[in-house]
Amino acid sequence: MQKKIVSIVGARPNFMKIAPIHRAFQKVDTSKYVNTILHTGQHYDAKMSDAFFADLDMPTPSYFLGVGSGSHAVQTAKTMIELEKVFIEDRPDLVLVPGDVNSTLAATIVATKMGIPVGHIESGLRSFDRTMPEELNRIATDVLSDILFVTEQSGLDNLIKEGIDSSKVHFVGNTMIDSLHYALPKADTKSTLEQLGLTKKAFGLITIHRPSNVDEPQQLEMILKVLQKLSESIVVVFPIHPRTRKNIELFGLQNYVENTNQFKLIDPQGYVDFLNLMRYSTFVMTDSGGIQEETTALQVPCVTIRTTTERPSTVDIGTNILIDPNYDTMISTVLPIVDGKIKQGAIPPKWDGNASERVVEIVTTFLQN
Ligand code: UD1
Repeated sequence: MQKKIVSIVGARPNFMKIAPIHRAFQKVDTSKYVNTILHTGQHYDAKMSDAFFADLDMPTPSYFLGVGSGSHAVQTAKTMIELEKVFIEDRPDLVLVPGDVNSTLAATIVATKMGIPVGHIESGLRSFDRTMPEELNRIATDVLSDILFVTEQSGLDNLIKEGIDSSKVHFVGNTMIDSLHYALPKADTKSTLEQLGLTKKAFGLITIHRPSNVDEPQQLEMILKVLQKLSESIVVVFPIHPRTRKNIELFGLQNYVENTNQFKLIDPQGYVDFLNLMRYSTFVMTDSGGIQEETTALQVPCVTIRTTTERPSTVDIGTNILIDPNYDTMISTVLPIVDGKIKQGAIPPKWDGNASERVVEIVTTFLQN
């Protein structure tokens, strides 16, 4: 009988983790295994969602729950209520959940309570900072999951320390990097830089959206002052997350983000355009999780404005530097990079573009038993 796998996506970073897995499932016997995509609708703006499906050649999701925004409890609960209906009507044999967003946790709770096995993509990562909602999502998802797919050595170490049965844990590499390999030829065909009036390796790329950096007026203002200061030395490109844009307006900080030749505030970018911006930037400054990994894979300097990372291989092996998000440290770290003093890095093990094939092999073996 055909086995049904449902892959859950909800927020922007999920799409690139699932797209290559979906593609890898097309290469196995489709009379035996079918993977369908379920979109919770946690991210709903076209620029935060639809653009990624097109760039990654993902099919239209078979289910769209349209849960939208809300407090953590509201968003998670709404997702659970809607997901349960789908799983009752069309019971999957296995559910795949990527990453650490609220949709990930919601799907894990619903599936495991229904006795449906869960495979967690990007398991074992820990920032050891329980003020981050993502850290709580990671811990709870890992405890409940039946198959734990790990991207880097620290993931293995953390899960074993937490007492997870090692037979459930598989070091497969990074499916997000599979997407990066897949999209590079497409990126070559796009004139992202020309359209924005940018020159290769002559701009810094900024992303910020973490509540700890953008929900406090003083912290957000400080970061915007840093961007102003940096723009005196190099062109600053700032694709803005909706959370950050809303807060800039709410706190009356619009005067810091006026467009000039040196400062470019732009909408959130699609995957392929953002890939071009990353790979041709002089440096990236970010508080994102996935961008730390993508810059390591692209060997582009990355300054992460967080005191912890759940992705230590990007620091130990890759091009990432962690810093305190304060004015002096940010300026004194970035300006030398602008002057060419950059940290060299290597590619972590199994970030080779083939992680998704390894995931599919393990899932199909699991479903045979
Ligand atoms: C979520 C994830 C975070 C991930 C990030 C990537 C959780 C807990 N957080 O954070 O781990 O790094 O996505 O972007 O799941 N909004 C829009 N349009 C959208 C989506 C959001 O306007 O398409 C606005 C809403 O006002 C919303 C706010 O942005 O309240 C935050 O969205 P939410 O999904 O709650 O969390 P993110 O900050 O995006």
